[in-house]
Amino acid sequence: MRVTVIGTGYVGTVTGACLAYLGHRVTCVDSNQAKIDKLRGGVSPIYEPGLDDLITIAKERGGIGFETDLAPAVRESDVIFIAVGTPPLPSGESNLTYLESAARGIGAAMDSSRFRVVVNKSTVPVGSGGLVETLVREGVSETHPELSHRIAFGVASNPEFLREGSAILDSLYPDRIVVGADDPATMEAMRKLYEPLIQQRFPEPSFAPRPSQLQTGPKEIPVVETTITSAEMIKYSANAFLALKIGFANEMANICERVGAEVTEVMTGIGLDWRIGRAFLNAGIGWGGSCFGKDVSSLLHTAGEYGYQARILEASLAVNRMQRGVVIQKLQEKLFILKGRTVALLGLAFKPNTDDLRDAPSLQIAEKLIQMGVRVRAYDPVAMDACREQNPNMRIAYCDDAFSAVEHADAVVLVTEWPEFTGLNLKQLASRMNKAVLIDGRNVFSADAAREAGFEYAGIGRFAGRTAPRSTPAVAD
Ligand SMILES: NC(=O)c1ccc[n+]([C@@H]2O[C@H](COP(=O)([O-])OP(=O)(O)OC[C@H]3O[C@@H](n4cnc5c(N)ncnc54)[C@H](O)[C@@H]3O)[C@@H](O)[C@H]2O)c1
Repeated sequence: MRVTVIGTGYVGTVTGACLAYLGHRVTCVDSNQAKIDKLRGGVSPIYEPGLDDLITIAKERGGIGFETDLAPAVRESDVIFIAVGTPPLPSGESNLTYLESAARGIGAAMDSSRFRVVVNKSTVPVGSGGLVETLVREGVSETHPELSHRIAFGVASNPEFLREGSAILDSLYPDRIVVGADDPATMEAMRKLYEPLIQQRFPEPSFAPRPSQLQTGPKEIPVVETTITSAEMIKYSANAFLALKIGFANEMANICERVGAEVTEVMTGIGLDWRIGRAFLNAGIGWGGSCFGKDVSSLLHTAGEYGYQARILEASLAVNRMQRGVVIQKLQEKLFILKGRTVALLGLAFKPNTDDLRDAPSLQIAEKLIQMGVRVRAYDPVAMDACREQNPNMRIAYCDDAFSAVEHADAVVLVTEWPEFTGLNLKQLASRMNKAVLIDGRNVFSADAAREAGFEYAGIGRFAGRTAPRSTPAVAD
């Protein structure tokens, strides 16, 4: 099929590349010329493992092109994805400006040569499917009113569940595909689009092998066909629940610290119950990223518009806000006076394998420390350029590696659990420091090993008497 994807961010670029890999002819459109220039030059504007390679192969399979002009791409397309940002407004509501401009642009470019499906992949407040349809119609009637009764299109909601850092695996081998559509022709077009994905009829890329459960178990990807409103609500419910799981682990961690229990053991103990599950129960310094905070706030706002006070969502946001302060509190417990001290941050990205800094705990921690008169040094394997560019006034000394970051520091905080940090030689790290204090914000180190290396160690929810390292993978958004 001919496909246009509007927005070449974390979602749009991966979606476009995957659809082209499946055999569709894809045009990715973005209003940001610099991003399009990079993509045309074969360089992804975001850090996502495997994406550059996937784009290269996708060019040869279905074919993928990058444009700033929306109209020609829309005219040639059967399916048009909207994957633009929906960032939060100060009120918690989603900012729909980009979505509105994309939907109107689609309408303005439409002609009557074929039936098209406009697919909303951006996370949008419940009810936005109707808004998209209205905006597309407005775009049509503003540009060519004479054609408006002859232009046929359907609207679908197809929420995205990919995780930055493993976006290609998540997109090629999803747990499920959710499609909301209110008419059969639109649903049929979506089934046709996703058929190769649902039936897994494509060779696995060498850098994104097919998971074993798809080779041995049922080979089809489950499809959840719903109304548009349910599909929109599924996305918000999923993120609200995941944020809640992490928040729950953090709340238990805070209680564990007080009663002398080890949260990693407690979460393993409850996670083995199939009704609970161990994933996303890792205590730490709180979740971040572009989705959880924005989506929980947006759902809370929607509920409020209907006169409902969503108390669990409120508490989830409050617990996370509080958890970000735990690092400062632990530094104060170890160092007493922070003014004039030097603190090293290992990791800036909101999680490993991405350069995304949106709502990253690192930024809030750095800002607070700087305000308190602390000299902040930092090292991140990929997010330093983005951090420098996005926060030009933040007084962070960026360092070449973890060892130079801790040089003469009074404490080091593990903020992002990049794999290269978990294998660090702790003895060497401690020997470079003025005072060997380690705040393990993600519980990745063995407290015993850290203490043997000479560190004063504090994890999150970890009882000093028990010291096993975390045995499950890192939290991922
Ligand atoms: N990032 C994630 O992990 C993730 C996961 C699931 C869902 N989502 C949702 O997907 C949507 C996109 O998120 P993202 O992280 O990819 O955003 P992003 O900010 O990385 O990318 C959005 C892109 O859209 C472009 N854009 C904005 N308006 C445009 C217009 N009118 N025409 C053409 N291009 C336009 C921007 O220039 C930008 O490149 C959001 O609604 C988000 O909530 C994101």
